[in-house]
Amino acid sequence: MQPQPPADSARPGPNDDVEDLMRVAHAAAQLAYAPYSKVRVGAALLAEDGQVYAGCNVENASFGLTLCAERSAVVRAVAAGERRFRAIAIATDQPKAFMPCGACRQFMLEFAPRLWVHVQGSKSALETINLADLLPRAFAPSDLP
Ligand code: THU
Repeated sequence: MQPQPPADSARPGPNDDVEDLMRVAHAAAQLAYAPYSKVRVGAALLAEDGQVYAGCNVENASFGLTLCAERSAVVRAVAAGERRFRAIAIATDQPKAFMPCGACRQFMLEFAPRLWVHVQGSKSALETINLADLLPRAFAPSDLP
């Protein structure tokens, strides 16, 4: 794994960058495959090099196989050769924003323990939190021998 940049260089860009990223996340939510929950979630993951990778939730008739939007975006990015990320925008069609689930927090931490996480629902203001605050005292790659 590439070393992580210091926390300062992981700051989000100006507000309009975040809003652009959130627009991509809202668009990705429209592509969700969610026939069971009927809940659409989209994610837009911003890599260090400026590339953006979109993901959406993909459900399954075997419910436990459901893939969240966040992990779908990370998998797309890593499969394209990206391992360094600055921020993720997470949008849902539900009125209130969703915070990423525990599995997605751990999955994102693998690559970007200080990732900026922006969330928004269909009727809520954009909110920003750092992954380090969403998953404190995490089990991390550096814990392995
Ligand atoms: N979901 C996400 O994609 N991301 C989240 O942050 C929370 C939940 C999806 C999984 C499932 O398809 C639906 O939302 C309801 O849980």
